Amino acid sequence: MTSKNIILLGPPGAGKGTQAHRLVSRRGMVQLSTGDMLREARESGSEMGRKVAAIMERGELVTDEIVIGLIGEHLDRGAGGGFIFDGFPRTLAQADALEALLARHAMALDCVIEMQVDDAALVRRITGRFSCANCGTVYHDETRPTAVAGTCDICGSHDLRRRADDTEEALKTRLMEYYKKTSPLIGYYYAKGLLRSVDGLAPIDEVTRQIMDILEPVTGNSPAEG
Ligand code: AP5
Ligand code: MG
Repeated sequence: MTSKNIILLGPPGAGKGTQAHRLVSRRGMVQLSTGDMLREARESGSEMGRKVAAIMERGELVTDEIVIGLIGEHLDRGAGGGFIFDGFPRTLAQADALEALLARHAMALDCVIEMQVDDAALVRRITGRFSCANCGTVYHDETRPTAVAGTCDICGSHDLRRRADDTEEALKTRLMEYYKKTSPLIGYYYAKGLLRSVDGLAPIDEVTRQIMDILEPVTGNSPAEG
């Protein structure tokens, strides 16, 4: 399995975190989620965490400077199976900064996977989401419930939480921010020949299969799958 550095690009609720988690366990990749890093900073009560809390709760983007700094710190640690950038970059300035940061570490992006979904599905996904505070596994009230109510399937923790910005009100702002500031990245990466797309409305396993096919396409002379 070759090491790859990829971006998962898509609106709030597209399934970036869900799929990143699977790639971590199946391919030994390292997930770099700026959303998770910012939530950790908020929980720790650091000065930066206090500064971003209200911005995140409203669904607005925090400054480029903050998230670029966070990503820069994590790249130093390296990743055997490659990096998954989840929720970063979100602006053209962040995309330029990522390219420069990767170059400084003698790395490059292999592909950008756009997760295509429509807005109607996102409201349902966001308002039904909860996740395990211990291991980060993402669930949904209807489509991905825990096997035993109140207990994480993976680590057994009972600390299951909902996000403060997972309200219909904040989602409107998050979507607006996405279309205004993040969706231009689709054209940016298309022009660089890096853009690939998956059907984010497909069932979770099917989306994973599509992503795995992009990362390790079936090549050579092997007969068609039977
Ligand atoms: P962030 O944490 O990145 O949130 P987001 O982009 O809004 O995306 P989500 O995490 O909500 O969705 P997801 O795509 O990960 O979906 P998930 O897999 O959980 O950012 C939060 C905030 O931090 C931002 O608003 C901003 O303030 C700040 N921030 C972060 N990064 C920043 C940056 N770079 N610059 C500036 N500010 C930044 O899935 C959602 C639900 O759907 C789950 O319940 C899941 O079970 C379900 N689901 C997933 N896939 C499927 C499927 N295929 N079928 C059915 N259900 C599914
Ligand atoms: Mg996420």
